[in-house]
Order: sequence, then structure tokens, then C-alpha cells
Amino acid sequence: MAGGTESRHGMWSNRWLFVLAAAGSAVGLGNIWKFPYIVGENGGGAFVILYLVCIALVGVPIMMAEVIIGREGRQSPINTMRHLIKQHHRSPAWTLIGWSGVVAGFLILSYYVVIAGWALFYIMQMGSGALEGVSAAEADHLFSDFLADPWQLIFWQTLFMAMTVFIISRGVIGGLETAVRWFMPALFLLMVVLLGYAMTLDGWSEGVNFMFRFDFSSITPDAVLAAMGQAFFTLSLGMGAIMAYGAYVPSSASIFSTVTIIALLDTLVAIAAGLVIFPIVFTNGLETAQGPGLMFVTVPLAFGQMPFGALFGTIFFLLVSFAAITSAISIGEPALAYVVEEYNAKRSRVAITLGAISWVLGLGTVFSFNYWAEVEILGQPTFFDFATFVTDKVLLPLGGMFIALFAGWALPGTVVGSQLGLKEGPMGIIWKLICGVLAPAAVLVVFLASLFG
Ligand code: PHE
Repeated sequence: MAGGTESRHGMWSNRWLFVLAAAGSAVGLGNIWKFPYIVGENGGGAFVILYLVCIALVGVPIMMAEVIIGREGRQSPINTMRHLIKQHHRSPAWTLIGWSGVVAGFLILSYYVVIAGWALFYIMQMGSGALEGVSAAEADHLFSDFLADPWQLIFWQTLFMAMTVFIISRGVIGGLETAVRWFMPALFLLMVVLLGYAMTLDGWSEGVNFMFRFDFSSITPDAVLAAMGQAFFTLSLGMGAIMAYGAYVPSSASIFSTVTIIALLDTLVAIAAGLVIFPIVFTNGLETAQGPGLMFVTVPLAFGQMPFGALFGTIFFLLVSFAAITSAISIGEPALAYVVEEYNAKRSRVAITLGAISWVLGLGTVFSFNYWAEVEILGQPTFFDFATFVTDKVLLPLGGMFIALFAGWALPGTVVGSQLGLKEGPMGIIWKLICGVLAPAAVLVVFLASLFG
């Protein structure tokens, strides 16, 4: 039912379940695995500030725009766009927002599942006690040996993809709601425990200093683009994931406060992850800029030295895997909901097909760490780098920019006003300025600066 009060895919039973589900989408590998390693690669402090600015000025308004559009259309992003275009007599070109989201979704899911598979592998490693008392060199060794073996990576990738497909086939609403209620709070709790541990380390103040010092010399156009791309990625923006979830939000929920809570939760987890990982890095004399392996080398090292480390370490990687699965589900939802609507197909069958396509694409990432480690793709060092570049630095920011423009200019003010619960007047104008002008302009400037900078 287009533009109605209900979606055919179901509805969140209340606003808090949307908060949990959207937080489940937002909080994932992006916060715990990716944020620290990108901070490390971009020199710390100044990058964190840029990231926070991007979350507040660009991320929050664009997330609001996605929820507005999704709730107005109540279908998959592609069909929501089609419906709104027709209803308000806009150019069909706007549907490209939906299509670019589907392409971005496939690419993201393909590598996301591979990395999440690494977390599954570490559940086993921690659980077996094999990492008790490891040295930094041993932790590093274990990880590089693991990456060198494509069959191992494929095994864990396949397992994680199968779990994702299984949950997503049962529908986002039922499956996710129950799970998210328990695991999200557990993840927050464990982060607090880890933070307490990090504070006792010798490298604590150096870690904090690294994350929050104002070293403005490390701000380059490329770092700004990386910060913005990370803001999009971590908030699940620019590809329709939040738009798809927005379609299941009850009409009565307030968008502004809901989105603010989600962005805050997401940011807290990312900052906490950084504050856990960098003190470990400095305490053990590790490299801050070691890239995607950062979490997988530092965290086992810390647990290896902690009392009950095997137990806590197992729980940690379980929760990371859980956080990853609630995100993976949302990455697939825009494409899945579209195929289900378009062909009246069975959810489970579509989930298996889409999962299979993305699994094959994921082999590119698997081989990026072994067979194809030296194979450049369009100027990027590996396929994995290519996939993250195209999604974080191109498709998500541009998708987000057009989403903001659509909500700011193509949707009538009255529609947006009633979605936001705003009366005509100054608040409406401020919203239009932020969503229609400021946020898209910021994306464009950053984008052009890094192209020509
Ligand atoms: N936000 C998720 C994370 O941080 C990843 C994601 C990206 C989810 C895009 C949906 C869409 O892990």
C-alpha cells in the first residue's frame, strides 16, 4: 500500500523498536572494526573531530530525510521513489537514488560478510583458549596466517552469509525485534567493561591523546572525504537502508528525536571502540595505521592478558558478530524488499538469490588478502580497497546528497512539515536550509575538493 499508514512488509510495533532496529543497522563493523582503523590511518585527533562534525551537520539531517521519504512512501526505496515522483510530478531520474542504493548494497554486503566471518573465526579462537597470554607478535601472526588461507576465509564468509540469509528470510520485523532487544544492550555493557579495562593500561592517556589531539596538519581533502564517507557508512546512510526501515515506522513517532538518539548511540559505540583499541595499541607498541587488521590483532591481545580473557573475548566477538548481522540484514533490505514487491516473490527465495550474488562478489575481497593481494582494480590497490572506495567515497555521499535534495526541494513543504510535525514558519525554513542547502552543499564541496585537491 503506497503512501498509506502501513507497509506490506510489516511495521515496527513501536517507536523504540525502530530506534533499536535502526541502531542495530547503524552499529556494526563500521563502529568497532572500521572506525578505529580509519582513525589510525588518518592520524587520529583532527580526523575524529571532522567525523563528529560530519555526523552532526550532514549525517543527522540526511538520516531524517531518509526516514521522511521512507515513511511517506512505505515501500522499498526504489518503489517509494517511483511513488513519490508520480504523486508530486517530479522527474523519473530521482529513482536513480534507489538503484544506486541497490548497487552500493551489493558491494557493501559482499565485503561486509567476509569481515564479519573473521569475527566468527575469532569467537572460536577465543573460546578455545588458544589466545591466552599471546604476545603482540603472535596475535599478528595468527591473523596474517588466517588471511593467507582463502579457504578458511571462504568457510567463515559462507557461514555468516548463510546466517544473514536465514534471518532476513524470516522478515526483518519479527526476527530482528526480539534479537535486537537483548543484544544491543549487552553490546553496550561489554563496551563499558572493556573501556574500564583500557583505562587501567599504561597506554590509556596516549590513546586518548591520539584520538582527541588537535593536529590540524593531518587534515587533507582526502581525510575530510574519508571522515564524511565514514559518517555515511556508520549511520547506514546514502543507500536506502534507513529509508527501507523508515517505511516500517509508525506514523506517530517523532523523527527528530528518534534520529538524534540513533546517531548518538552510534557515535558513542564508535568512540568507545577507539578508546578501547588505541590504548592497547600504545601499550603494546603496535602500529596505529595497520589497516583492516587493527581490531583483530589488538583486541585478542588485550583479552589474552586479562583475567577471564577467554570468556570475555568470546563474548566480545559474539557481540561483534551480532552487531554485524543486524547491519548486514539492513544492507540487503532495500534490494530484497524491491524484488519482493516487483515480482511478488517469496522473501526466502529472493534472500537466497541475492545472498548468492553478493557471496560471489565477496570472493573478490577474500582474494584481496591472498591470491590477488597485488592486483590493482581501477587505481585501487586491491578489490577490497576498490569496493570500499566506490561505496564510502562515491556512492554513499552522492546518494545521500540527492536524498537530501529530494527531501529539501522535490517533496512539497507541506508533506515534509507534516512528517516532521512542523508548522509553517521559521522551523520549516531552517529545515529547508539545513537539508536542502547546507547538507548537500557540504557533500559537494568535500567531494570536489578531494577530486581536485
Ligand atoms: N552502518 C553499518 C556499520 O556501521 C554498515 C551499513 C552501511 C549498514 C550501509 C547499512 C548500510 O557497520
